Amino acid sequence: MPTNYNELAEQYKRSKQVAWRYYIEQYSLCELAGEVSGLSVLDLACGEGHYARVFKKMGASRIVGMDISTRMIELATAAEKAEPLGIEYLVGDASSVHFGQSFDVVVAAYLLNYARSKQELAAMATTIHRSLKPGRPVRYRKQQSRPETI
Ligand SMILES: C[S@@+](CC[C@H](N)C(=O)[O-])C[C@H]1O[C@@H](n2cnc3c(N)ncnc32)[C@H](O)[C@@H]1O
Repeated sequence: MPTNYNELAEQYKRSKQVAWRYYIEQYSLCELAGEVSGLSVLDLACGEGHYARVFKKMGASRIVGMDISTRMIELATAAEKAEPLGIEYLVGDASSVHFGQSFDVVVAAYLLNYARSKQELAAMATTIHRSLKPGRPVRYRKQQSRPETI
């Protein structure tokens, strides 16, 4: 699906500095993802990699970030070059990509709202489902594992 994030990429990256994103958005996403230390995480619609970096700093063993916007992935890759964390980034469409059952956790912040039809929504949900390793129990997050900076 075409999005205008190639034009908005730098502006979106700056928006991550706004306080509510840290205190509400990041807090909520980290709570929902649960304890990720030692786990592999797929970040679908990773944008410029903000949450990929957050989860890596929370101790995830492997992070793959994927986004349909080439500009977003360019920014993510530049951040990885400036501060190497071992995150893999790639351009792709979450409604059609195949990873196999490789990940303990899949996050997809603000992805599903981009589906233009029930079929596309189902395709995105299928990608999430088939990317997960079977049988991972829920692990609740330890409060102290959240990075303290925005
Ligand atoms: C609001 S941004 C969120 C970025 C990131 N998840 C975050 O929370 O910082 C939405 C992202 O979804 C991406 N996107 C939209 N449709 C997509 C699709 N079909 N596959 C992968 N990425 C998609 C856009 O390019 C954009 O980077």
